[in-house]
Amino acid sequence: MMEYFAVEGGWPLEGQVPVHGAKNSALPILAATLLADGESIIHNCPSLTDCAAALEILSCLGCRVRREGETVVVNTACRRGHTIPDDLMGRMRASVLFLGPLLARDGAATACWPGGCALGARPIDLHIQAFQALGAQGRSWNGQLFFHAPTGLSGCRIVLPIPSVGATENAMLAACGAQGLTILDNPAREPEIVDLQNFLRCLGARVEGAGTGRIAIQGGCPLHPGEYRVMADRIVSATYLCAVACAGGEGELLGTDGAHLGPVLAALTAAGCEIGRAPDRLQIRRIGALRGFGALRTGPYPAFPTDAQPLLGAVAAGAWGQSRITETIFDRRFRYLEGLTAMGAAVQTEGDTACFSGRTLHGAQVEATDLRGGAALTLAALGARGESRIYGLPHIDRGYQGLEGSLAALGGRIRRETRQEAGC
Ligand code: EPZ
Repeated sequence: MMEYFAVEGGWPLEGQVPVHGAKNSALPILAATLLADGESIIHNCPSLTDCAAALEILSCLGCRVRREGETVVVNTACRRGHTIPDDLMGRMRASVLFLGPLLARDGAATACWPGGCALGARPIDLHIQAFQALGAQGRSWNGQLFFHAPTGLSGCRIVLPIPSVGATENAMLAACGAQGLTILDNPAREPEIVDLQNFLRCLGARVEGAGTGRIAIQGGCPLHPGEYRVMADRIVSATYLCAVACAGGEGELLGTDGAHLGPVLAALTAAGCEIGRAPDRLQIRRIGALRGFGALRTGPYPAFPTDAQPLLGAVAAGAWGQSRITETIFDRRFRYLEGLTAMGAAVQTEGDTACFSGRTLHGAQVEATDLRGGAALTLAALGARGESRIYGLPHIDRGYQGLEGSLAALGGRIRRETRQEAGC
């Protein structure tokens, strides 16, 4: 059986939709629960396949986990072992975030080498360098990575050559178990890093500086379980905003204030949308036809977020006029353009830049190749004339809690269907 989104495009949106918790905050926070023995409670934890994978890893490590709606309870009292299962390492790159807390607690961690993915190579050399700087020894054998710190971890100064989000998070988590002070220079500044810091503080950790160019972790103190509410997902917010831009009409996002979406809001305003902001909600209305928004360039926070790049690609494809998107973070993040082209988009890539001249898109049968690319094709289908089918839903379900339901709540004509696969 193969699931797909059946979309009837060309209908303006109107309605309200709540924004669920942030995947890229919940995942490091779930890994961080290993740092304390006992029961931690995580609220606003989205029901995504990636979060389910993180809970599977915790279960494999002997933890007792249960979900009660948007709340997840993790009891690490019976934690045992320090090996991340191969299938889970392969299913989700963020599984690598469990290495840091395991090293912090046990001075040992084992995992298979993570593969690349649709976005490109995605190495973990910076994670490994951070662990080694803290005193862990790493070796690779037969596709497995073995880390151990026979004399424990010691605080040190780590300078990241690029502000890697995952390497920053893994270094913070490992440093919580290191004796003494660790300084992280040139860390990622994403809001999800601040959310992780706030959770670590709930556990009693002494961490400061997240969101700036230097993070300090005073490690070695025993931590206790904590209770925390994950921030709203800013990329999901950008997804719903771009849905209204693509389809037309208006919409109201609940539980988000757009504080971390400056560059996205600027691009949507340039494309002809009106944005309204209130303490816990964002409004958007498209005024007339979409216009090309000029040039945008992704980069580390606070620059334009790479995860929203495909979403603005969907907007550019249906906007009259020129738009240029330059992707500087990942070397294979334009694969979704194949699907947009099938819908009639006029787009050319030149190295790391995609140049769009808008067209009226038409429905097509397309396949998602990664999470945000799949969301982009779905948004484009809402604005296209006619019917579309979007396959590859497992990619989309990794990061969206029922995307079709959320878009339908905004008035989108979209539903999840199942097709019997042709017999072999
Ligand atoms: C996180 O991935 C996010 N995932 C990604 O979101 C996001 O696109 C990315 O940060 C950038 O913002 C999670 O948080 C679970 P990086 P991460 O390390 O940590 C290179 C989504 O759609 N690099 O900041 O893997 C790397 O190849 C996902 O929700 C190294 O060279 O990203 C890339 O070019 C997709 N060596 C750049 O750094 C390393 O050791 C940024 O990667 C690590 C990274």
